[in-house]
Amino acid sequence: MCGIVGYLGKQEAAPILLGGLKRLEYRGYDSAGIAVMNGGDVNVVKEVGKIRNLESALDTTPLKGFIGIGHTRWATHGEPNKTNAHPHVDGTGNIVLFHNGIIENYASLNKMLQEKGHVFITETDTEILAHLIEEFYEKDLEKAIRHALHEVDGTYGLAVISKYDPNKIYVARKGSPIVIGVGKDEYFVASDVTPLVNYTRDVFYLEDYEMAIITPKGVTTKTIENKKIEKKTERVTFELEAIEKGGFDHFMLKEIYQQPDTIMDAMRGRILKDEGIVKLGGLEKIEDRLVKANKIVFTASGTSWIAALIGEYLIEEFCRIPVEVEYASEFRYRNPIIDEDDVVIAISQSGETADTLAALREGKRKGALTLGIVNSVGSTIARETDAGVYIHAGHEIGVASTKAFTSQVTVLALITLMIARRKNMSSELGKAMVNELLKIPEKVQIILHQNDYIRDFARRYKDERNFLYLGRGYNFPVALEGALKLKEISYIHAEGYAAAEMKHGPIALIDKDMPVVFLATKDVIYDKVISNIEEVKARGGRIICIATQGDEKIQQYADHVIYIPDTLRALTPLLSVIPLQLLSYHVAVMRGCDVDMPRNLAKSVTVE
Ligand code: F6R
Repeated sequence: MCGIVGYLGKQEAAPILLGGLKRLEYRGYDSAGIAVMNGGDVNVVKEVGKIRNLESALDTTPLKGFIGIGHTRWATHGEPNKTNAHPHVDGTGNIVLFHNGIIENYASLNKMLQEKGHVFITETDTEILAHLIEEFYEKDLEKAIRHALHEVDGTYGLAVISKYDPNKIYVARKGSPIVIGVGKDEYFVASDVTPLVNYTRDVFYLEDYEMAIITPKGVTTKTIENKKIEKKTERVTFELEAIEKGGFDHFMLKEIYQQPDTIMDAMRGRILKDEGIVKLGGLEKIEDRLVKANKIVFTASGTSWIAALIGEYLIEEFCRIPVEVEYASEFRYRNPIIDEDDVVIAISQSGETADTLAALREGKRKGALTLGIVNSVGSTIARETDAGVYIHAGHEIGVASTKAFTSQVTVLALITLMIARRKNMSSELGKAMVNELLKIPEKVQIILHQNDYIRDFARRYKDERNFLYLGRGYNFPVALEGALKLKEISYIHAEGYAAAEMKHGPIALIDKDMPVVFLATKDVIYDKVISNIEEVKARGGRIICIATQGDEKIQQYADHVIYIPDTLRALTPLLSVIPLQLLSYHVAVMRGCDVDMPRNLAKSVTVE
């Protein structure tokens, strides 16, 4: 989703801004632009498409100056073209701004401004903000910005430069993250820390309704009510290798291969093996409330929502606490029944997903204890929850979530164990589960060794138009995740279903042109899954099975079998999802898709 960068200091701004935008590419975007102050004038270059197009344009039209801002746009209002690319300017051309987020009341503001004579040249909501600031400008730009921000409904991460105030960058935040990096006599702005870490590790974050005025002499922070606030910088620990491909062709493949380590990192220091007990520092203070919860509500989006479904299976089976799983986007608008005895757990890789954040706030408003299972340290969801557990998966750059998913599931298993051992889980079962959890990383490694085999047979399926993924029990959410992974990076239509549901509708789709991926691992419902496979086979469907190592029988049904090591039924998703990630990856690469930055998708969805 849109990304912002800014620089004010003694170096040329344009190369720093361009480098920063490259670091933000992973968020997803369709155009990019840079604006730099030069001797009181603001010069702009913007281009549609990839950053390399902007880079070429800057080669032809270099921008000189020491203060500038830049942006990658992910279209919400108006198609991705050069006109709609940011920055946008007011009617005088003096106020230049970049904006992440959505101005929800843009239609009424547009009407009001047009009546006052403003003329708009783009289809964006952002242009309205520039004109609104112009409308309120009376020789005090800061005041005009604050006034405009009071008039807008919606979300913003905003950066403004202007010849009215040529030595300043104004930034403001509501709902869309802004981090400010403090160097020696220089300052950096960005939507997340990745563009900053080359230059400084000292940062602070703006909260909602806060703004910062950056000048060569320092940064002033205040609320948009004009109340001064003190911000302390914190030091970010961030390894630069985390944002390099490290020899892999794509970030997604690197992240798939990191999973033996990332799953281990999610467990590190949290397991007392000899007692079969889990300790989660982030939950210590609220552990009693969690164990006694009347009900747990998971709220999340996309892949994180699928992880939550696995959490539901785990917690209901082992902790005997009722669990609901809600799409964050639905939860926030349907007045859910939640009270002080309930626990709302938001799951989010980025910690910035607008819907998930809003759902969390709704849970908090209703008095529930709110927890977060988050990857991005210091993100908004991590900061706003009462307590939480970091998944420690490291920076995930591929837009399609892989390692974050397995780390989320690992943490959900840990939370389950923590609660269950406080309730009625025996120490034998506790020990068996933690021992098995600790073996998962090496079992994932065994699956990764089959990468070449999976790539070879992926070739046969690369031209398909549809796929069905079927699984039962703990493998049902995995079927959903397999289908989501395939569709988002290869653009092949794919559906995930509970295997037995197939006969209630999707079976009508089965013919020789329909490859069906079955999650058919050996467990209590294995025989039932075999019956579902027979139903597909009888109708000519082609079958790919994810099966348990040693299961020879499955070969008589399947066109292709990918074996995974045996594990406890409840931990199966940690293994069964791996071949599906690899299958999607290879199919997408063979189709020539941009796996790390699939079309239309954004890594961090900060708009509703
Ligand atoms: C799918 C994917 C998305 C995210 C979703 C939630 O591969 O990455 O579906 O899972 O946008 O994002 P987070 O977890 O950051 O809240």
